[in-house]
Amino acid sequence: MGITDLLLLGQGSDLASERGVSCPGELPAPSDPDLRERARRARATLGDQVFVLGHHYQRDEVIEFADVTGDSFKLARDAAARPDAPYIVFCGVHFMAESADILTSPSQRVILPDLAAGCSMADMANYEQVAACWAVLDELGIGQSTIPVTYMNSSAAIKAFTGEHGGTVCTSSNAHTTLTWAFSQGERVLFLPDQHLGRNTAVLQMGLTLGDCVVWNPWKPRGGLTDSQIKNAKMILWRGHCSVHARFSLDSINDVRSRIRDVQVIVHPECQHEVALNADIIGSTEQIIKTVSNSPAGSKWAIGTELNLVKRLAQQHQDKQIVFLDKSVCYCSTMNRIDLPHLVWSLESLVEGRVVNEIKVAERTAHFARVALDRMLSLI
Ligand code: 13P
Ligand code: SF4
Repeated sequence: MGITDLLLLGQGSDLASERGVSCPGELPAPSDPDLRERARRARATLGDQVFVLGHHYQRDEVIEFADVTGDSFKLARDAAARPDAPYIVFCGVHFMAESADILTSPSQRVILPDLAAGCSMADMANYEQVAACWAVLDELGIGQSTIPVTYMNSSAAIKAFTGEHGGTVCTSSNAHTTLTWAFSQGERVLFLPDQHLGRNTAVLQMGLTLGDCVVWNPWKPRGGLTDSQIKNAKMILWRGHCSVHARFSLDSINDVRSRIRDVQVIVHPECQHEVALNADIIGSTEQIIKTVSNSPAGSKWAIGTELNLVKRLAQQHQDKQIVFLDKSVCYCSTMNRIDLPHLVWSLESLVEGRVVNEIKVAERTAHFARVALDRMLSLI
């Protein structure tokens, strides 16, 4: 069960109350003209007591108040590097706040300003499904020689599963390094939960073929695969995807190339394989920012990643032509749950001595998830 399901269960079926469940009647109105001033005041009052992290996909109104911005890898490291801050306000999604809780000291408290900020991709792999898959691998005698690797975009329970079974975590910035390590430890990899990041890294960066990869469908008996398909695979890809990045298509690339002469297409590795294959550059969020920022004036870019980031890059680099790869793709709706009213509410609550929306990972889960995360951090 994912965070979204839990939230809905906790509230019955009243979707209208979703925003209200974590801050009943206390959320400032989005139209409040003093919101920015309130955020500034609360930040100033809290001083070094609070450390605000902002993922690159957050809204501008939230990024304005972040102490640091980054992709999920950088933010995990940044959170771990601030042991002196008692409160970490994580402007991102649930799995990122969980990782921050795991990597910070027990006395530090991590806050997610809106508990509805989950991730549909992370929800596509739950512990029971992954354990059932592993039982099949064990039954086939290949559990010992399979290394589980999960993308950062997964629940703490899935990270813990990989830690407990000799595996690790990766992010879009370090998937190549991590998979290279995994193949030095075993014969095949079970890659969770994003099939596209797994396939793109294995095929486009590591020289594996599409034939080396199979897709495990958690909704079908034995993943919908034959025993020999499972045993012969080098990469067992979980059937998960990002509901934003998987929407970019080859048509969007062809269309933008026909409209803008000499445009360079740069996409996130969560995009489908044929999109990655036909792009000029594939890069994590952080790599996209660096590449576009360091390109000469007059460069033309079509960017396939979350819209908040693409709009910000276009705003910051007006000497370049920067367009969104596909006009029909929209914001990540869960990233967008964190808005200025929720940020102000969580900060003002801290000023009043109340910790709201704390994200706390159970100790056993945190222990094994830390094993997996520390393994990842030691590879870099
Ligand atoms: P990165 O932050 O690792 O680039 O991941 C992108 C993403 O989808 C975060 O939710
Ligand atoms: Fe999840 Fe995709 Fe949104 Fe990232 S962009 S939080 S992977 S749904």
